[in-house]
Amino acid sequence: MRHLMNPMDFSVEELDKLFDLAADIERDPEKYAHRCAGKKLATCFYEPSTRTRLSFETAMLNLGGSVIGFSDAGSSSASKGESVSDTIRVISCFADICAMRHPKEGAPMVAASHSSIPVINAGDGGHQHPTQTLTDLLTIRSLKGRLNDFTIGICGDLKFGRTVHSLVNALSRYTGIKFVFISPEELRIPGYLREKLWENALSFEEVIRLEDVMSKLDLLYMTRVQRERFFNEEDYVRLKDFYILNKAKMALAKPDCLILHPLPRVNEISVEVDSDPRAVYFKQVQYGVYVRMALILTLLELV
Ligand code: NCD
Repeated sequence: MRHLMNPMDFSVEELDKLFDLAADIERDPEKYAHRCAGKKLATCFYEPSTRTRLSFETAMLNLGGSVIGFSDAGSSSASKGESVSDTIRVISCFADICAMRHPKEGAPMVAASHSSIPVINAGDGGHQHPTQTLTDLLTIRSLKGRLNDFTIGICGDLKFGRTVHSLVNALSRYTGIKFVFISPEELRIPGYLREKLWENALSFEEVIRLEDVMSKLDLLYMTRVQRERFFNEEDYVRLKDFYILNKAKMALAKPDCLILHPLPRVNEISVEVDSDPRAVYFKQVQYGVYVRMALILTLLELV
């Protein structure tokens, strides 16, 4: 039995197979409409979510399965003091697979070690968010036709953004990737990631101004400043509008530079950018459903 805690849990070859399956699902969803008949997904969300939870639920419903779960720790027995390891033992009796989001880094890993069903990390604190990365990679592969040889700008909260950490990890295995990290000094990528990039001789630079690098990017991954991970509100208020991607900045970008964002967006992308054909963050959401369908089928060994 396999779990998914980190995008690196799958080899590049396994990811390729997963993305091929997701692409086939996109082409012919009917073929998969009953593959999970009789199966149940539990969504255990101890932290807010719109996309990730509903995307998992949609994925399971599209596969003909059903869904149980909670979307708020306050409505679960966590509020009575139940541990994650006890909760997952209970969920294992009800469901065939579980997607878990938790504010504590490593909580889904603890759950996986006590579970008799596959557990998917749907985001753990500021650590990892592997299914968002699968979504991002499928979007890039589908719209660019490749997962190598590009310059990607990653902009915003690179310190606390778990989607950033997972994406950098995952992309570091492909060839010809150049990272351009764009953040204020206080929100630079964590030291362990910088060291990993150095160790693997990967190309990266760190800059503060988006305008200075915009013209060389093939992809720009914007992120929100992660308010909930700040220790004080003043720092958040000072940094929250540090970057605002608008039409003027888009004018500096390559004609085929794709703009991605895991969402939710706050102010970091002005709504005037939404109608630009290079803005693909809402398309990304649709790819998220296909890739989660492929993931559920793979972890349930139904392919
Ligand atoms: C992200 C997350 O939860 O980390 N959202 C998502 O799942 N798409 C990004 C964010 O909250 O900023």
